[in-house]
Amino acid sequence: MHAQPDQQTLLRNAMRTLNLTRDGFCQRIGVTRRALDGWLLPSESSEARTMPEVVGRYVAEILAGMPAQAARAAGKAPMISNEGKPQLLSTDQLDLDVVAELFRIADLLEPVARRRKVTRVLEGAVLGNLFFEASTRTRMSFGTAFRRLGGSAVDTTGFTFSSMSKGESIYDTSRVVSGYVDALVVRHPEQGSVAEFARATNLPVVNAGDGPGEHPSQALLDLYTIQREFSRLGKSIDGMHIAFVGDLKYGRTVHSLSKLLALHKGIKFSFVAPKSLEMPAHLLERLSVNGHVIEQTDNIAKGVKGCDVLYATRIQKERFSGEAIEGYTPDFQINAALADAALKPDSLIMHPLPRDSRADANDLSTDLNRDPRLAIFRQTDNGIPVRMAIFAMLLGVADQIPHDLRDATWRTPWPVGVDDAVFEDFE
Ligand code: NCD
Repeated sequence: MHAQPDQQTLLRNAMRTLNLTRDGFCQRIGVTRRALDGWLLPSESSEARTMPEVVGRYVAEILAGMPAQAARAAGKAPMISNEGKPQLLSTDQLDLDVVAELFRIADLLEPVARRRKVTRVLEGAVLGNLFFEASTRTRMSFGTAFRRLGGSAVDTTGFTFSSMSKGESIYDTSRVVSGYVDALVVRHPEQGSVAEFARATNLPVVNAGDGPGEHPSQALLDLYTIQREFSRLGKSIDGMHIAFVGDLKYGRTVHSLSKLLALHKGIKFSFVAPKSLEMPAHLLERLSVNGHVIEQTDNIAKGVKGCDVLYATRIQKERFSGEAIEGYTPDFQINAALADAALKPDSLIMHPLPRDSRADANDLSTDLNRDPRLAIFRQTDNGIPVRMAIFAMLLGVADQIPHDLRDATWRTPWPVGVDDAVFEDFE
């Protein structure tokens, strides 16, 4: 059976392909913002409205005329590639076409993430989830994403329980597991180590964090979150102001996301950190393109003033070998007082998590938990469709998804999943 994408997926895909905010899209197709908002709500919501068929046909016609759609129809869809292999090691490999294609696939998979649909496009495939460093959400969300596509996953955690503790090399480990599984997700404390894993295999490999190096899937889910939130808020990424706060020296999520954002135009980057945790100079140089403005400061109130996105990070204590962590005083804490004094009503507060909730950590405060500007759990939710999309692209099953969606059979609580922005009842 050839299932049509649902109306929310069609509309999101259209706004992304046309690079329009909700307001811009309303103008383009001649409907009111109120109507569009109703069509975009999940069908379970009591406020949801069905889009008239004629609008759906009109949107589909506009899309059929777009170059990206035409390229896909000709079998030339953008692809993630590392030395000719389907491997995602760094955001350096990505351009805006690949990102748009990934997010189109993520939109298609959102009903699966929301537990409304099931798919079996990866039935029989096995993921090797190799984590040699601490992780909760990255390991679980990669494993969940692969399983929700119909595959299964095997995990190793830490060095202690792997043969690396017996002196086995990365090359041997990679070669051995290549005989067992169909894709690898690897996290390792040394920069460059995941690339070494990738060289020793032809399998799809995703870098889930190589020491202070990169974390490309986190950057993609962060960008997906920013795009979705900006679409709702009527903002565009070109020309935005983002302030990164915290451990910018070792924070791999900051390294990957800033490079991904730099593919856009005219962004103001504020890097807020004490001297000892500043952004590496070679990365700052990389960002000096496309009319971006870069500011560095250790004054948090000044650095985050009026920003569209405040991206907070944890001090990566595990990466400090005896160096003192200097200058990370309580002023660096992101809390309600700072948000009220320095942010706008439509600013977003993001964090890759985990946040260090111990009193002396000066990390993102829990006093913001009821503030709707806090997008941290929308970020983690978005990790599932985005990681599913990465697998679907790397393993070549994206085109099968629209034909392979069935209704989920179990009862799912509402609200839950990627559109869950409800904070009112949370303590
Ligand atoms: C981050 C990481 O591991 O780099 N966590 C994550 O994957 N979401 C950030 C961190 O550990 O501070």
